[in-house]
Amino acid sequence: KNIVILISGRGSNMQAIVEAQLPGARIAAVIANRPDAAGLAWAAERGIATAALDHKAFASREDFDAALAAQIDAFAPDLVVLAGFMRILTPGFTQHYAGRMFNIHPSLLPAFPGLHTHQRALDAGCRLAGATVHFVTAELDHGPIVAQGVVAVADDDTADSLAAKVLRVEHQIYPQAVRWFVEGRLTLAGQRVRVDGGSA
Ligand code: GRF
Repeated sequence: KNIVILISGRGSNMQAIVEAQLPGARIAAVIANRPDAAGLAWAAERGIATAALDHKAFASREDFDAALAAQIDAFAPDLVVLAGFMRILTPGFTQHYAGRMFNIHPSLLPAFPGLHTHQRALDAGCRLAGATVHFVTAELDHGPIVAQGVVAVADDDTADSLAAKVLRVEHQIYPQAVRWFVEGRLTLAGQRVRVDGGSA
């Protein structure tokens, strides 16, 4: 199965997926919306095709998304993985990849969609925090949930220390979610995702 991974920065989640060397998964390309994304060099060093589309070079969000989709489709992906990709996507773009695009969000959705999730969890006095891999739909951070990972919040946690704990969990659940997709074990039923064969 061909996988295209989209990043905006360091791409640590992309790196975790590449390093998992998932059987049956071929990382066809890593694409960034910023030419200086550090993850591009990391991927290129490993012989993975890379591309950068500077969103500032496009007149509208629609123009950027159309160019991005053309670049992605050149690699004929079975799955598109948003990994630290900090762009809001148009409904047309999300519809084009319906059922075959993942995102990872650093909270236990549906709690804390949007930004600054760790500070918000701390401010709310949460005892648990975590990350969620979900199918991408037109509604930001609200697609069907594929995988979640949880961490305990310590009394002395800050947004930074909590982010670091959650990031480690992200690097576990994202490769697992991609493996389930590649193995054809995910069934979408409305808002719910069933993982056939247990969640091993
Ligand atoms: C992570 O916290 C992820 O949850 C969010 O972007 C952050 C950076 O991810 N989507 P990465 O290191 O670029 O993969």
